[in-house]
Amino acid sequence: MRFHVLTLFPSMFDGPLSEGVIGRAVSSGLVSVDLCDFRRFAADRRGTVDDYPFGGGPGMILKPEPIFAAVDDLRGRGEVEPSAPVVLLTPQGERFDQSIASELAAAGAAVLVCGRYEGVDERVRSHLATRELSVGDYVLSGGELAALVVIDAVSRLVPGVVGDAGAVEDDSHSTGLLQHPHYTRPASFRGLEAPEVLLSGDHARIERWRRRESLRRTLERRPDMLGAAPLSDEDRRTLDDLACGG
Ligand code: ADE
Repeated sequence: MRFHVLTLFPSMFDGPLSEGVIGRAVSSGLVSVDLCDFRRFAADRRGTVDDYPFGGGPGMILKPEPIFAAVDDLRGRGEVEPSAPVVLLTPQGERFDQSIASELAAAGAAVLVCGRYEGVDERVRSHLATRELSVGDYVLSGGELAALVVIDAVSRLVPGVVGDAGAVEDDSHSTGLLQHPHYTRPASFRGLEAPEVLLSGDHARIERWRRRESLRRTLERRPDMLGAAPLSDEDRRTLDDLACGG
């Protein structure tokens, strides 16, 4: 998976991209993240990338020229296919979720454009970005942290990045449901017991318990997800039972 990130703050990416699962994916080459400081593409010697909003108002707006020029440069050098998604990160975008992460992973490459200041000139949105994404209903100081969220979630879906592929399939959201609770040793901790079924060694029973707890959690915390989740007849019976206090 190849990411090309257009940002005014490339060093914000250093820590998150060098640690843990994503750090290993980057150092093994399964994921590459090319950081482009688009100030290099400013039209003037001073590196101006922002300007006052037409019509007045607070804050500064990112100018279109450096961002278009940076993408043209990537395409011109053959670094990015013309068909690769160009994602603009802003609080006004479509809400990023697991299915969008899968779509981006399937594309194999993406350009991520990090907004800053009060906003980005609308022509970036309308004529360069193929998609505008938000990571949640809150305002960050810029798109960098949002881009890192996207890079992390998409990279986990690249085969080989997460050692145990089953772990990714089981993740909350990949199954369309929230994940069941987990326990590890000790079985008894400060008088709190791990559920007996998990120590039983009976795999079929364990699987049934996990499915039921996964359904219970989703029903309690995110009932909105149940409409889209792939549910068996048995799942539906379990949900009816849980709804009746089971
Ligand atoms: N930039 C600022 N806030 C953001 C958000 N919530 N999602 C994506 N990009 C952003």
